Amino acid sequence: MTLAELKQHFITELQTIYNKEETESIFFIYLEDKLNLKFDLSHEIEFTSEISSDLKQLIAGQPIQHITGKAFFYNDFFFVNENTLIPRPETEELIELIRNDYFQSQDLSIIDLGTGSGCIPISLAKLFPKAKISALDISEKALKIATLNAKKLNVDIEFFQKDLLEDILINKTFDVIISNPPYIRNLEKEDMHQNVLNFEPHLALFVENDDALIFYERVIEFAKNHLKPSGTIYCEINQYLGEETKVLFKKRYKNVTIYKDISGNDRMIKATNS
Ligand SMILES: C[S@@+](CC[C@H](N)C(=O)[O-])C[C@H]1O[C@@H](n2cnc3c(N)ncnc32)[C@H](O)[C@@H]1O
Repeated sequence: MTLAELKQHFITELQTIYNKEETESIFFIYLEDKLNLKFDLSHEIEFTSEISSDLKQLIAGQPIQHITGKAFFYNDFFFVNENTLIPRPETEELIELIRNDYFQSQDLSIIDLGTGSGCIPISLAKLFPKAKISALDISEKALKIATLNAKKLNVDIEFFQKDLLEDILINKTFDVIISNPPYIRNLEKEDMHQNVLNFEPHLALFVENDDALIFYERVIEFAKNHLKPSGTIYCEINQYLGEETKVLFKKRYKNVTIYKDISGNDRMIKATNS
């Protein structure tokens, strides 16, 4: 068959779970990242048992990034699996915010709380090669992938396995504390795509409806002992809880700003006393 015919086959088989644009995008990611082929749709290809089995997994709702084993974030590919959140484009905007704020800084110290695949600290390490960067996560399995990613992308990150919900003491202070913590309330599950609900780690995503800001409270608590007086906190936030999150940070920080993402949703918060 030609690649054009394979593409049509993907569109037909996946039409019950994705729209045409989504399937086309999945198909092209599959082509490039799994089959290492370019987009010449007249190219002949054998419909192998591997392609058939990959397509079955996609039909079952498995994210394309789990089939290819990698996801693109900021400037690089990161290994991902069922233990790591697939890095999202919104989070790239958080990296951009820090890049703009610290444009010419050299001796930065940064920690990422809830690092998952390590996409945040690794991207920052590449932007700020002289920075000292740490990251923590509760999940040993996620940290394994983050460590692999740091090695593959040739950056030096100090990883800690820690539970942010407990008191943590790391013998360091930081210029930047960054976090994209779990922030989706259980009540928001019904609006979510099945492939996220069934295949991405719930540990990375969900919080209780009545304690939705718990991780932001813990980030603030962590910052008491670990943020330099002139330091800044950057977090990704729940788009529906921008105002509440701002009120929480305002209790402790003088300057608190909410930023919208490219879709116009409240998505990031920055807090500092300086
Ligand atoms: C939304 S994901 C973010 C992952 C990654 N930073 C990103 O942006 O793609 C949240 C991360 O927090 C971690 N996490 C959840 N509960 C935690 C806890 N109590 N302590 C530390 N990390 C936790 C999860 O394992 C997950 O990797």
